[in-house]
Amino acid sequence: MSDTQESIAILGGTGDLGTGLAIRWAKAGHKIIIGSRTQEKADTAVAALRLISPQTDVSAMVNEDAAASGDIVVLTVPFAHQLSTLESVKSALTGKILIDVTVPLMPPAVGKVQLPAGGSAGKMAQDLLGDEVMVVTAFQNIAAHLLQQDVKIECDVLVAGNKKIAREKVIELAGQAGMTGWHAGPIENSAAAEALTSILIQINRRHDISHSGLKIIGQADS
Ligand SMILES: NC(=O)c1ccc[n+]([C@@H]2O[C@H](COP(=O)([O-])OP(=O)(O)OC[C@H]3O[C@@H](n4cnc5c(N)ncnc54)[C@H](OP(=O)(O)O)[C@@H]3O)[C@@H](O)[C@H]2O)c1
Repeated sequence: MSDTQESIAILGGTGDLGTGLAIRWAKAGHKIIIGSRTQEKADTAVAALRLISPQTDVSAMVNEDAAASGDIVVLTVPFAHQLSTLESVKSALTGKILIDVTVPLMPPAVGKVQLPAGGSAGKMAQDLLGDEVMVVTAFQNIAAHLLQQDVKIECDVLVAGNKKIAREKVIELAGQAGMTGWHAGPIENSAAAEALTSILIQINRRHDISHSGLKIIGQADS
């Protein structure tokens, strides 16, 4: 169990990636708030999470209340609804870390990098929310259903954001969820992690493998 007890509010936490992160952080001992557009969907997701992690303090709220209640807020909705969801909770995010997992995939060509005109999903989130919110992007290259299973994840997490202290917090949270996170620099660098997802999709397809991922290597300086 973690000895920290921040509450983590996951907006769109009823979906695939949000469920995976909720399971991992619940098992690590964090207090979890599942956010949804509807109380009913959030209640259903919380009931499922309680079955998996009965000891965890979990609650269900609509996204606006979840964003206001969470110490740390995580956005896990499809790219098409990223900015509208952030707009709806913006006033509740002041002074907080907002972890954004959004990958700007443009179906049907999800294997082609198509970054938005704003630079990247992460940069667009930071521009929308302003400097009062510490946007950190992460987990774009991690498959949701791996997060949901009790398996070792062989993919590292690139963590981008303008504040080092916020990146460090997200690296810690990645570790508690069973992955290694790395400082990837300012929010502009989120573009690289977001783009990498389409490359991993191509690798999976062309080499007939599942869950290709990246691993950062190096040697400690003596
Ligand atoms: N799936 C993956 O393996 C994966 C991996 C890395 C990154 N990501 C990123 O994670 C994010 C979530 O992906 P996902 O696969 O978890 O998505 P998802 O399951 O399709 O959707 C997540 C949640 O988004 C909410 N949502 C749907 N339509 C919405 C709308 N019009 N407005 C506001 N909220 C809406 C829904 O919650 P409610 O109906 O409860 O409101 C839904 O449960 C995406 O940005 C994706 O790029 C996904």
